[in-house]
Amino acid sequence: MKFYIINGPNLNLLGLREPDIYGSENYSSLCAFVESCCKEAQVECEIFQSNHEGELVDIIQSAYNNADGIVINPAAYTHTSIAILDALKAVNLPAVEVHLSDISLREDFRQISYAGMACIKTVKGMGFEGYRQAILYLKSYLVKKISLNG
Ligand code: DQA
Repeated sequence: MKFYIINGPNLNLLGLREPDIYGSENYSSLCAFVESCCKEAQVECEIFQSNHEGELVDIIQSAYNNADGIVINPAAYTHTSIAILDALKAVNLPAVEVHLSDISLREDFRQISYAGMACIKTVKGMGFEGYRQAILYLKSYLVKKISLNG
């Protein structure tokens, strides 16, 4: 089983950007954490980060036939991108949305999540741990689906 872990704009600046909101650990630490979670869940993963909406769409499209599921933190594009929503719908792979911060407790403009409309679950406000929750949820969702389909 293989997951694509996709991170959107400015997540490459973790550690530097608003540490009071996003924590003091950097993007490499997040990648190492995600890799250890995938090992624990016994799934393969490929981790991506882009600051560009179209590139994120390309990555989601390339998940088709290459991955069994997607964990995505679309960052600011969460709240604006119908292109990312459409790409997730197009590939029709189970996807879990993750946010380091609790977007439901933040500004009004963060209250809508377009990407979330194509996701089976949203994990928010748990920092790095949210990625672990997302990976484990996606794994058990897929295991259940496979056992139901024989
Ligand atoms: C974020 C929340 C978004 O609103 C914000 O634009 C981000 C990060 C999070 O992980 O908490 O860049 O997705």
